[in-house]
Amino acid sequence: MCGIIGYVGAAGTDVTSILLDGLRRLEYRGYDSTGIAVLTASGEVQVCRRAGKLANLAAAVENGARPAPGSLGIGHTRWATHGRPSDTNAHPHADCDGLITVVHNGIIENYAELRQRLEQEGHSFRSETDTEVLAHLVERAYRGEAQGDLLEAVRLALQPVRGSYAIAVLCREQPQLLVGARYNGPFLVVGLGEREHFLASDIAAFLKYTRRVVIIDEGELVALRPEGLTIQRLDGTFVERAPTTVEWDAEAAEKGGYPHFMLKEIYEQPEAFTRSLLGRVRAGQLYLPELEALQRSGALEKVRRIVIVACGTSYHAGLVGKYVIERWARLPVEVITAGEFRYADPLVGPDTLCVAVTQSGETADVLVSTRQAREQGAPVVAITNVVASAVTRLADAVLYIQAGPEICVVATKTFIATLAQLYLLGLFLSLQRGTLHPERAAEVLQALEQLPMQIQRILDRAAAADDPIAPLARELAPLHSVMFIGRGVGYPTALEGALKLKEVSYIHAEGFPAGELKHGSIALLDPETPLVAIATASHVYEKVVSNMQQVRARDARVIAVATEGDEAIREHADVVLYVPPTLEELSPVLAAIPLQLLAYHAAVARGCNVDQPRNLAKSVTVE
Ligand code: AGP
Repeated sequence: MCGIIGYVGAAGTDVTSILLDGLRRLEYRGYDSTGIAVLTASGEVQVCRRAGKLANLAAAVENGARPAPGSLGIGHTRWATHGRPSDTNAHPHADCDGLITVVHNGIIENYAELRQRLEQEGHSFRSETDTEVLAHLVERAYRGEAQGDLLEAVRLALQPVRGSYAIAVLCREQPQLLVGARYNGPFLVVGLGEREHFLASDIAAFLKYTRRVVIIDEGELVALRPEGLTIQRLDGTFVERAPTTVEWDAEAAEKGGYPHFMLKEIYEQPEAFTRSLLGRVRAGQLYLPELEALQRSGALEKVRRIVIVACGTSYHAGLVGKYVIERWARLPVEVITAGEFRYADPLVGPDTLCVAVTQSGETADVLVSTRQAREQGAPVVAITNVVASAVTRLADAVLYIQAGPEICVVATKTFIATLAQLYLLGLFLSLQRGTLHPERAAEVLQALEQLPMQIQRILDRAAAADDPIAPLARELAPLHSVMFIGRGVGYPTALEGALKLKEVSYIHAEGFPAGELKHGSIALLDPETPLVAIATASHVYEKVVSNMQQVRARDARVIAVATEGDEAIREHADVVLYVPPTLEELSPVLAAIPLQLLAYHAAVARGCNVDQPRNLAKSVTVE
C-alpha cells in the first residue's frame, strides 16, 4: 500500500508545498521512499525523489532541489512491493524522455511481460519497479492511437494491465490536466477546490484545502482540469457523479473515518488477503517464482524437514503452517519461538528448510535464529511484510505478504496475509513432492480465492446493529480472565484469539489445546471465567463440542466460533459467532476475524490505548 497525491490549479502555484503537505498526511501508508514531480511554468517536469522517510525528501527540497512553481504536480510515498527502496525506485516514474510521469499505489501483476514487450519496442527502463511500465504504456498510446488525448491515452494504456492500481498521471504537454485511474482495490478520491483540484489515496491528503470530495470507483478514470472533472470507465463510457462534503477532521481522515487504526486494518483484511494472493494464483495455477528459483538452485533437494521460527502472532501463523504443510506436503514441521530456538543449540542443516516468519522482518530473536540456521547450512525462506527488511538479507527466498503498512501495534491483517503465504508454501511443496492430488490443490486454490469475499461477509455482519460481538465484548470487559481452546488448526487460532485479547485489552487470556482442558486448566473455569471454543467444521468438531459440554457442566459461560449453518452448536454455547464455511485448513483466516473484533471492542470498552497498547512495540528489535 502506498500513498499518492496529485494537484492541478493555476499557473505559478507553489505546488511543491501542497504535495509535501499531502504526503505528510499519507506517510502512514508507506514510508520507505518518497518523491514529487512538478510541471513548472517553463514547461519542464522537475522531479525530486529520495529513499527513506519523507523528511529526506523535505530536506532535499529545502536544500536546493525544490521544483519551481507550476500548475500541476504529483507525489508519492512508497511501501515497496517490487524493487528495493532507493532513489531510483522511488516514484514518480517517467517514460523514456519524460513526456509522461506517473505515481502508483497497487501491484502490476503482469509487469514483467509488459516490460519485455516495451523493451522490444525500444523503450528503455531505469527502475526495478512494476510502476514504470505504466509511464511507457501511456507514452506509447499518447503518441499513437490516442493522438495527444491524455485521458484516452491512459485508458488505452490500462487495457492490457492486470493487477491493482490507483494512479495519477501528468503530461509535459498538458499543464492544466491531471488524470487518475483506479482498478481492483486501492482507493482514489478527488478533492474539488475553487479552480484547483486534488487527487489522492485518501481524503486526509487534501482535507485542509477542501471538504468537497468525489470518490472514483473501481474501473474508472478521471480527468481533472481547473474548470472541473470528467469521469470515464475503462470501457469508454462516461459517468456523472456529484461531490459530497465530508465532516471528518484530519486525524479521522487518516484512519479512513475509523476511530482506530486497529479497526481500519481489521476492515482492510479482504483487500489485504486479495493483495497477498495477487500474482500468486492465476487460472487455478500457482505462480511462485521466488520458490521456483530456490528449487532450481537444488537447495530443496536435500530437505527432509522444516523448522518454522517466529514470535507472537507470526508464531501462531507458523503453527497453522505446520498443520497444512504436514498434511499437504507430508514433511515433518517443527514450529519454535525464536527466543527458544536461538538458545537450544538447534539441530538444523542442509536437510532442514528454515522458514523465518516475521511481518516486520526486524524481530531480533528471529534474525539471530535465521542467521544461526544459515550458518548451519539450512536453506532459508523468509515470510515478511517489509521489502528489504533485515530478514530478507538472510534469506535464500522471500515471500512478501503484501498486507501494506500495519500501523496498529496489534497484528491483524498481517496475520491472515502471513497465513496466505504459508498456504502457498504448503501447496508449492506438495506439488513439488507430488504428495497432493492436483484436484485437491485446485480445490484449495479455489477456496483461497473465496476467502476475501467471505471475510467481507463477516465484517459486514459485524457492522450490523444486531451483531453479537460488540455487546459480548462489553460483557467480557470487566472480567479478569478468558480461556480459549481449539483442536487442530483451531488450536493456533485459540492462541491468536487469546493474544489479541490480552495485548489490547489487558484482560488475562490463555489459549491451549482443547485436549489439555482436563489436564489442569479446567480448574480455572467458573462463572467469571468464560471459555471461547473454536468449533468450526473440522474432523475434530465433535471432540471440541464434548469439551464445551464439560465446561458448561461447571457453570462457565461458553462462546463458540462456529460455521454458518451449524444450528446444533447453539445448545452447547451461550453465544455463537458464525463464520462462512471453508476448508478446515483455511478456517483460521475466518475464525480470527471475530476474535480480533472481540478483542478490539473489549479494549475500547476498557478505555485502553488500542493502537499503542502499554509496554508493546510494533517490532521487538531487541531481545
Ligand atoms: C502481535 O499482535 C504482537 N504485536 C506481537 O506478538 C508480534 O506478532 C511479534 O512481536 C512478532 O512480530 P513480527 O511478526 O514482526 O516478527
